[in-house]
Amino acid sequence: MKPILPYDMFDVGRSAEEARRFSRMESIYHRGQDLVWDGRKVLDELCAKHDGPKLKPEHRLPAQRVLGSIMWGELAAWKVAAKLADELIPIESRLAATSQAHDEARHFYVMHDYLMRATGDFPRSAPRPAEKLLAAALEADTPAKRIIGMQLQLETTALTIFHALREADICPVLSELLVYYEKDEARHVGLGTQLLPTLLKEMSVPERVAFTAYSFRVASWSLVSLKHTENDLVALGIEPRRVAVLGKSKQLMVFEELWQLAPEQKSALGERAGMMFDAIAEALWPPAAAPTGLRSRARRVLGALRGGYETVDTVLDPTQLPKAAE
Ligand SMILES: [Fe+2]
Ligand SMILES: [Fe+2]
Repeated sequence: MKPILPYDMFDVGRSAEEARRFSRMESIYHRGQDLVWDGRKVLDELCAKHDGPKLKPEHRLPAQRVLGSIMWGELAAWKVAAKLADELIPIESRLAATSQAHDEARHFYVMHDYLMRATGDFPRSAPRPAEKLLAAALEADTPAKRIIGMQLQLETTALTIFHALREADICPVLSELLVYYEKDEARHVGLGTQLLPTLLKEMSVPERVAFTAYSFRVASWSLVSLKHTENDLVALGIEPRRVAVLGKSKQLMVFEELWQLAPEQKSALGERAGMMFDAIAEALWPPAAAPTGLRSRARRVLGALRGGYETVDTVLDPTQLPKAAE
């Protein structure tokens, strides 16, 4: 009979590299505890400092829609993190997921409270493409899929939108609030990159194929979802290509760290498919000044297919930037 608790959880042999990754996961929990912020207090203080949220009337509805999707995404992240906290066996990864669930609970209620104060309302559902993306993470049937869907795809997408919203500076309360979010989200991405190499190592060939197919499905939904948000982003003064370039750059940072930790898992298939997504992004969001003729567009798409989409220098945690740390 299976014991009711994993009494053998401490009886695991680990390589030095794996031991290092698990110790990083453990520190995600302790850092989370050191950096924890009181959502009610921070929102009250920021509102007092800036004399309340200040959204222009024309920004009200687009902001409500973009932040509404984020708000429901925070609930999905809360649910996924709570599930991981329940199912992951090693204490270090369980601690990191538990800390994430605590952060996501705060992200969810603070975004709800901000929307109520700034716009007087919040969307009662997420738009269809965002819902498909959230469903992929919520309904994933293995911890590895949950991790790549939530921690590596959805959380880097959220970090990208937070970054672009901060740059657009549509409301001083929101811009300052998002720094708190980004700092937390960067730790959550860390759980994904540190844990995934171990989960990948344990996979059979069919499991790996299913995992790769799943990660492409999530990546496609994130492109569709970004396309769907395009008009609202433009209304908020955000250039969709900037979001695509930032997203690609952050994703690249995350995946480069992952492949460094698990070089033997870097499949040619994954790289080729990544190039395919770059080409799709190039077709959807060409540079603003680029010629619109069919031939030059085709040339750019082929270029992206060979050499990748445009990238920029970026960070996951904005407090790593000298400007934001002031
Ligand atoms: Fe979050
Ligand atoms: Fe998160």
